[in-house]
Amino acid sequence: MDNRSIGIFDSGLGGLTVLREIIKEIPDENIIFFGDTARFPYGPRKLDEVKKFALNIADFLYRQDVKLLVIACNTATASALTDIRGNFDIPVIGVIEPGARTAAETTVSGRVGVIATKGTVESKAYDIAIKKIDGKIQLFSKAAPLLVEYVENGILEGSLLDKAICSYLKPLFKENIDVLILGCTHFPLIENNIKDCCGKQIRVISSAIETSKDIKNTLVKFDIKNEGKFKPQRIFYETGNSSKFFSVGRMFLGEKIKEVVRIDLKI
Ligand code: DGL
Repeated sequence: MDNRSIGIFDSGLGGLTVLREIIKEIPDENIIFFGDTARFPYGPRKLDEVKKFALNIADFLYRQDVKLLVIACNTATASALTDIRGNFDIPVIGVIEPGARTAAETTVSGRVGVIATKGTVESKAYDIAIKKIDGKIQLFSKAAPLLVEYVENGILEGSLLDKAICSYLKPLFKENIDVLILGCTHFPLIENNIKDCCGKQIRVISSAIETSKDIKNTLVKFDIKNEGKFKPQRIFYETGNSSKFFSVGRMFLGEKIKEVVRIDLKI
């Protein structure tokens, strides 16, 4: 039994979609969530810069004595997973491998699409992860930066959003994909809108459920699960000043976020 917290981070609110699944899968765990809202968005930045930010946050969370780190951001996973694993002596879980695995298990035609940030698409992290699982699967990628902006600004419905979704997906439809990976942790917040545009022929998957299963298995493997005698604690940090944590958090987590602590991280 280990009652230390799980540390989880994203550039902003998107990581809450992963947190939601973690809470469902392992409700007894204490959580420290970190949103780097001051340096959001990560997607258009150079991967080296994102890596620096991600290492910086991982170091902060490590110093809060977390027992496991979750990189709840595809762009940060693409740029920093290997380095974070190399620098810290606790288990580190990213979101790309679990999403690629689900896609590979789901596709029938072997033609998979992914929408993600520019950084994730350019890193080719999904191509590499999919090829490792099954060399025959073809991956088609599309960067969808506007969707990240909509979600982070709390715009989760409306015709402008739907139009943007469909125009990003059009080139992927032309490739006859039968599975679409939501390769950005912001996108499950608009999953229904994306599903509406995809229709019934395309299965839409996000990595959050698989990621939370990986986390549970890792806690069991290292014998570091919490026993759940006390109500679990959830602590929220952010670097910016985004009151959206409260509204989106309540809507999405189904529980009230009472406090978000603002913190400055110096690099
Ligand atoms: N949520 C992030 C991801 O999964 C990125 C959003 C951003 O900062 O651009 O890639």
